Amino acid sequence: MQEIKPIGDLRQCIKQLKRDNKTIGFVPTMGNLHSGHLSLIDKAHELCDVVISSIFVNPLQFGENEDLDAYPRTLNDDLKFLKQHHCDVVFIPDSATIIGTRNTTLVSVPNIGEGLEADVREGHLDGVATIVTKLFNLVQPDIACFGKKDYQQWLMIKKMVLDLNLDIQIIGCQTLRENDGLAMSSRNQYLDETQRKIAPEFYQVLLKCAQAIQPHNPLLALENAKNELLKKGFSIDYVELRQQHTLAPTNSIDNAVIVATVRLGSTRLLDNLELN
Ligand code: PAF
Repeated sequence: MQEIKPIGDLRQCIKQLKRDNKTIGFVPTMGNLHSGHLSLIDKAHELCDVVISSIFVNPLQFGENEDLDAYPRTLNDDLKFLKQHHCDVVFIPDSATIIGTRNTTLVSVPNIGEGLEADVREGHLDGVATIVTKLFNLVQPDIACFGKKDYQQWLMIKKMVLDLNLDIQIIGCQTLRENDGLAMSSRNQYLDETQRKIAPEFYQVLLKCAQAIQPHNPLLALENAKNELLKKGFSIDYVELRQQHTLAPTNSIDNAVIVATVRLGSTRLLDNLELN
């Protein structure tokens, strides 16, 4: 696996790959990799000749009150896992070269990039859209894989690619779960022992909600789910019914998705459930 830090070296590498007519699959990450990330690498391999990943903890997507420095950095383990999954190239830029100052041009995606996460984490989705645009420009992939756990992020990037006429196919990959149903996430390691035991209840409540949901009054099941989550000790950022493709609020269960974010202590857990 080739490890690349300077942008100039990455440009050379991409030029060569394009000259060789290789298709490029891309998996951007912030490191601290788990099986969910690695399943994206595997997917990219299925679809492309060459797989490129990036590891960059993006300051633009952290708010003033969020601890960027505390974000877990596990580069040695990450590189080991990427090698095991036959990643061909990993791009590890430093902040100064890829972002410059915080006073950078920003990419902002209307509608899908508004509400939900954008309401709770001001500037977060613009930070994601901006860094992903920069990485897409540098890597010039044919496809890029994103986990559907971050449902709004995935849809926002799909819209961004369409709006900016980028010739990149965005692949949404199923959420990987622990045996007890908890969606895999780098944040799970912040849970203490008691919280870790409660955390799988989040997905169980969403499943129960999806089963109980009535077409004539879907919001009742959502209200019940919220009450149940509160009883179990979660605090709630949002539990909402939205349209699968647009994320517009909806009262219909057709092509809907339940998107939810809760907290256990200070740890945020994201999950969602598509109703088909
Ligand atoms: O999902 C993530 O890990 C990040 O938001 C991403 C897409 C790598 C951008 O920094």
